[in-house]
Amino acid sequence: MGSLSFRERVACAALHAAAAARSDVLATGWVRTKRESKGFAFLEINDGSCLANLQVVIEDGAHGYADLHEVTTGTAVAVRGDLVESPGKGQRWELKASALDIIGRCDADFPLQKKRHSDEFLRSIAHLRARTNKYGALARIRSRLSFAIHDFFQGRGFHYVHTPIITGSDCEGAGEMFRVTSLDPYAGAKATADDDFFGKEAHLTVSGQLSVETYCLALSKVYTFGPTFRAENSNTSRHMAEFWMIEPELAFADIHDDMQLAEELVRHLVDFLRADCAEDLALFGRFVEPGLDARLAAVAEAEFARISYGEAIELLRKAGRPFEYPPEWGGDLQTEHERFLTEEYFKGPVFVHDWPKDIKAFYMRLNDDERTVAAMDLLVPHSGELVGGSAREERRDVLARRIAELGFDEADYWWYLDTRRFGSVPHAGFGLGFERFLMFATGVANIRDVIPFPRTPRNLDF
Ligand code: 4AD
Ligand code: MG
Repeated sequence: MGSLSFRERVACAALHAAAAARSDVLATGWVRTKRESKGFAFLEINDGSCLANLQVVIEDGAHGYADLHEVTTGTAVAVRGDLVESPGKGQRWELKASALDIIGRCDADFPLQKKRHSDEFLRSIAHLRARTNKYGALARIRSRLSFAIHDFFQGRGFHYVHTPIITGSDCEGAGEMFRVTSLDPYAGAKATADDDFFGKEAHLTVSGQLSVETYCLALSKVYTFGPTFRAENSNTSRHMAEFWMIEPELAFADIHDDMQLAEELVRHLVDFLRADCAEDLALFGRFVEPGLDARLAAVAEAEFARISYGEAIELLRKAGRPFEYPPEWGGDLQTEHERFLTEEYFKGPVFVHDWPKDIKAFYMRLNDDERTVAAMDLLVPHSGELVGGSAREERRDVLARRIAELGFDEADYWWYLDTRRFGSVPHAGFGLGFERFLMFATGVANIRDVIPFPRTPRNLDF
């Protein structure tokens, strides 16, 4: 076999898509299955470039045929040969091997021998699960959707702003932050924030919003897309300590513009997914949620419903069923309420806007009734709250009042308040949880399964 130069290598995906037979190509990948007959053998190999395996046929006499006993599921191989039309069913092309080399042997206790494994088991081997069909597909979908997000915003004149990961302020004001320090927390010494790296308390960001707002008030249309961190100790199927968020911010805009943008983004991502990732997506329709494509098609076509929080509470009260948490004005919507609204009543995504100010963050714009803020959540079947956003309080005096009311220290937000003194304008934005979107789009029920390495309470193995 020749060297493994990049120039000669052909990905499985490209071989599947080949328009004509090709001679002397080099394919590399991991063996999924091996079937031996007298005088020849079939290998299914996969290099992660696409869902489908590449069928390799190797006959007695070919270089490497004698080593086949060492080629087991999980073995990494390089196969040189001719791409020919396959006489068998199930694939258009197959690779007729002239040479097979073992690149990496696979120990006999390789855990992915069976065809199907439970998600729980695969979570315990997160370093290997991308080698299964489902997790390989999820990884490709994640990658393609990341691209689609940038494509959506860049195509509409939004600028990508890199907001900081280490922050000195609590955006959501919920105090659910991870501390960042260069001091040894276990040493027991009595140190103060003044002794620490930044000379003040530092945390991992819960949201890039406050930072991105400052760029919004300069570039008008901006977004950030990065990891965010929350130390909320909730062990649910929708929360993680580390997740990715897409946060656009729009100047000279109100909450209706905000909802419109969120709706267009969600629709763009759904359309992109159905067109660009059809092969991978079909796997989820077959094995995870039958009818998935019909559900996504409906999202792509119908307008999203919009109701006020007050209307939502009324609908829930009239639902004619007992909820574990009786819906009451002033309370947050519980999972059971979200499910009723999205899965039963509207049967699709619904925006709930104008929320009681007491259950929302300090930066949301106060409505004239002084009881509600111009906030909106987008609720969707399957993953509940997908988007949280609002018009921002652009009036400096009202903002300062809200900060004081909530007992925060104005000094911590001096720069944020400052932006309201120099050409402040109405502006709005939202955060879309990337993993929540992936759950919604694939039907995967547990958020731990749509991110490569989930971070949840008491779980940091990988
Ligand atoms: O509603 P949230 O907390 O909004 C904000 O952080 C705003 N500062 C965003 C903004 O206006 N720029 O979070 C936004 C979204 C939620 O709707 C949800 O999809 C997701 O982030 N999210 C989580 N995803 C996974 N694990 C968690 N612990 C999450 N918390 C929020
Ligand atoms: Mg929220």
